[in-house]
Amino acid sequence: MKTAVFPGSFDPVTIGHMDLILRSAGMFDRLVIGVLVNSGKTPLFSTEERVEMLNSLTEGLSNVSVKSFEGLLVDFVAEEQAGVIVRGLRSPQDFEYELPLAQANYRLNCSADTVFLATSPEYSYISSSGVKEIYRFGGDISDMVPELVVSRLQSSC
Ligand code: PNS
Repeated sequence: MKTAVFPGSFDPVTIGHMDLILRSAGMFDRLVIGVLVNSGKTPLFSTEERVEMLNSLTEGLSNVSVKSFEGLLVDFVAEEQAGVIVRGLRSPQDFEYELPLAQANYRLNCSADTVFLATSPEYSYISSSGVKEIYRFGGDISDMVPELVVSRLQSSC
């Protein structure tokens, strides 16, 4: 059974993440979404909220599960008996950032190969940090995140 981990902060989950989740769920027998517990000083959503939202959003995907993790990604990957880490690439700058991380992760656990998926071009401008900033200044993020995220933000106001 080929298991992959799709790690991230997901604060908040974007439609770019959802596209990558859907596409990678079709490539592996099992996909574990790993939500990093500590995502900066002022998270928009708690870890529990992020896990809960991702669970709702992936309800229809039988081979996808959502878990939070703390510490090293490679340790989480080993716990899940996964052999692949999936990361999305939006730009050459992402690649520059991701390549040494993938190499360090491989060095730490040579059973953890990183696979990069090219982000769909229509989503390449979307980032969680951008979404957070736009939201905090009152901008419209409804084209960038799943509807569930928008409604959670509205209900928390
Ligand atoms: O969505 P993000 O914030 O780009 O995800 C980053 C993430 C969670 C993949 C990265 O920060 C991570 O793996 N953190 C866990 C700590 C770790 O293993 N660091 C060493 C990387 S070489």
